[in-house]
Amino acid sequence: MAETPRRILLGVTGGIAAYKSPDVVRRLRERGAEVQVVMTPSAREFVAPLTFQAVSGREVRESLWDAAAEAAMGHIELARWAEAVLIAPATAEFLARLTHGRADDLLATLCLATTAPVFVAPAMNRAMWANPATQDNVKILQGRGITVLGPARGEQACGEVGEGRMLEPAEIAERLMQHLTCEPVLAGSRVVVSAGPTRERIDPVRYISNRSSGKMGYAVAQAAREAGADVVLVSGPVALTPPSGVHVVRVESAAEMHAAVLQAVNGADVYIGAAAVADYTPSVIHPQKLKKQADTLTLELVRAPDVLAEVAALRPRPFVVGFAAETEQLEAYARSKLERKALDLIAANLVGDETGFDRDDNALLLLWPGGQATLPQDSKLSLARQLVRRIALLRSPEQAPAGREALGGSLA
Ligand code: PMT
Repeated sequence: MAETPRRILLGVTGGIAAYKSPDVVRRLRERGAEVQVVMTPSAREFVAPLTFQAVSGREVRESLWDAAAEAAMGHIELARWAEAVLIAPATAEFLARLTHGRADDLLATLCLATTAPVFVAPAMNRAMWANPATQDNVKILQGRGITVLGPARGEQACGEVGEGRMLEPAEIAERLMQHLTCEPVLAGSRVVVSAGPTRERIDPVRYISNRSSGKMGYAVAQAAREAGADVVLVSGPVALTPPSGVHVVRVESAAEMHAAVLQAVNGADVYIGAAAVADYTPSVIHPQKLKKQADTLTLELVRAPDVLAEVAALRPRPFVVGFAAETEQLEAYARSKLERKALDLIAANLVGDETGFDRDDNALLLLWPGGQATLPQDSKLSLARQLVRRIALLRSPEQAPAGREALGGSLA
């Protein structure tokens, strides 16, 4: 089992939810963490530093300009000391400063200087949370790999009811530890992941493609690698940097994806088809650029190979996971793909202008023979990690690290 990071830097910013932050310290310490609290100047207006000192057992850090504290552990050293940074509560103001990479107080500077994973637990009035400025900031932060925990819905300090409350301290601690405890549930396994779109050429300058960015598939490849697998990522044309430690095979068309995947799955333990492979491809590729002539142009398309169905038909075959991208009737269509192609698991997502494609977040409905689980809106990486844990659980129920309940699933 991987070691859980033990040195957690807790940033407390100036919101009323700061009164709950001492309990966050307590919950983290119960789970074996050392906690160093760093407060912003406005956080002091809500809770006295002495409270944090008492519960953390460490002197609280507040200022970039504290010569005595800097002499003990300078801010860069503090940034290096942290194995994870958690900001709870994270106010709208702090999220905005984080988005802009400000370094105008100790906490913001530490966030800029650390290479540790950063988590934020937002807390603010519901209208401030819903404001497009805050929502855009959150998307940017998620895109940079920052994990957003919450917020929750409910009654707010201002008397309003809605989304914006900080998650309860126990839940923050639990979710943080879940993210950090990356158990090698796929150690020793060979996993093949397909990602991105395909391009089906019409002539030397044109092609038919789709809106897949590859983000979901790349996140799955990263999560499988983190879980200890040997990962081959068969990627359509995308503008992403592959996760480190993953072997990448680049392809363009459905035919190339088909050939590369069938070669890679030979002897593999798991195949995860996250690519948006073309269903149809032009029957001929014109050798020269098609010239404008009549008012209409008809292209004849023929079926492209169904990579997922072919992998599922192999004997012996790996554990086969498909994705279903739907614009309607998500569960019904996904279930029919699961059954028709005899898959072990399918991850269904709604796609369209607002969901699925080319975003940093997503929501998945997982279906497998005998069960299902809903993974609510979250970053693609977080969803990918949950998917990987589910795969591990289904492949080997008795060895899986977490029970079905812990993963939020239900048995049908
Ligand atoms: O890449 P992003 O921008 O992050 O977007 C993510 C995503 C929406 C593309 C991803 O989450 C997703 O849903 N991928 C599957 C897209 C898709 O092709 O869905 P489908 O329902 O059309 O296909 C079902 C399954 O069959 C998929 O596993 C697909 O890889 C597979 N397939 C489809 C056609 C084909 N010719 N060969 C296949 O293997």
